[in-house]
Amino acid sequence: MPRIAVLPGDGIGPEIVREALRVLETLSSRFQLDLTWEEALVGGVAYDATGHPLPPSTLALCKESDATLLGAVGGPKWDNVQPSSLRPEVGALLPLRKELELFANLRPVTLFPALASASSLRADIISGGLDILVVRELTGGMYFGQPKGREDGGNRAIDTCVYTRPEIERIARVGFEAAGKRSKRLCSVDKANVLETSRLWREVVIDVAKEYPDIELSHMLVDNCAMQLVRNPKQFDVIVTENMFGDILSDEAAMLTGSLGMLSSASLGTRQTAYGTFGLYEPAHGSAPDIVGKGIANPLATFLSVSLLLRYSLGQPEAASALESAVAEVLSEGLRTADIAPAGSPSVGTRAISDAVLAKL
Ligand code: IPM
Ligand code: MG
Repeated sequence: MPRIAVLPGDGIGPEIVREALRVLETLSSRFQLDLTWEEALVGGVAYDATGHPLPPSTLALCKESDATLLGAVGGPKWDNVQPSSLRPEVGALLPLRKELELFANLRPVTLFPALASASSLRADIISGGLDILVVRELTGGMYFGQPKGREDGGNRAIDTCVYTRPEIERIARVGFEAAGKRSKRLCSVDKANVLETSRLWREVVIDVAKEYPDIELSHMLVDNCAMQLVRNPKQFDVIVTENMFGDILSDEAAMLTGSLGMLSSASLGTRQTAYGTFGLYEPAHGSAPDIVGKGIANPLATFLSVSLLLRYSLGQPEAASALESAVAEVLSEGLRTADIAPAGSPSVGTRAISDAVLAKL
């Protein structure tokens, strides 16, 4: 029986995860998935209840599960928590990634044709839609490198960027494998003209490429990539890059689709389960404190994250496709939450758009 750890978290997290669980329930019975799940605290709500944003019991539940579904963590209430290592983002998200060895973050950037007018780019630049996969290394680089901290009475701050050959090899392979299932083109993004870690990155990616002779590999400097994404995004298929660059480029790429409210993500680990690869799945939009409790949050990125969960961790591509089609159909029929509705036109709430998706399922 596949077990899912469900961590609703803060802000709009519980509102969208609630709807995602209705979706899972429906899919579970339609496709006889026999799913079970258990909820646990994470983020600010966990800090309030237990004094830590990632209680040991939550981490243990994730380790025992086949996949984890996360809503969002953080919010203004916890922005000034001291020590800052107990802030939800740093105290929950980063240790979850490290402890669960979630080294591969996949962020599919898909422009649903029905949402083309919500894109920040001109229609002629995105005509025909967009389908980019950002593969971001998630457990190395500047986020975790040591030393890190303050010196000189707090007046000197240090972050260290470190990468090792094995860390680069394994994420490069995820990039090549993904490209192999798509257009067979991989673009590796670095800053090899300045950074030593990027020079190693490029060397290792070139070495790994020898295992994938059918994939066409290109390299791009990160500043150029940031520019090319808004100039001509259709040139990209799979992008593989280090932690910090991937953080920035994936937000930029998400905006091309019109709303951060549509961006799903999968963070895959090293552990194999009976059904697939263990992973943590979350919408990329965060806790959206400004709209909490209003019933207007867009649950679609969470639904699309559920579809990634079904595909990668549970080995259920049919259920995943059914959910993706249901989301696309609802959009093409014109239903919109406020974040993706054109200015001045009507929108529906979280429950209504979820009901529409459920009806398709
Ligand atoms: C993301 C977020 C996180 C990150 C923050 C909240 C720590 O921006 O998942 O992209 O920087 O990785
Ligand atoms: Mg980010």
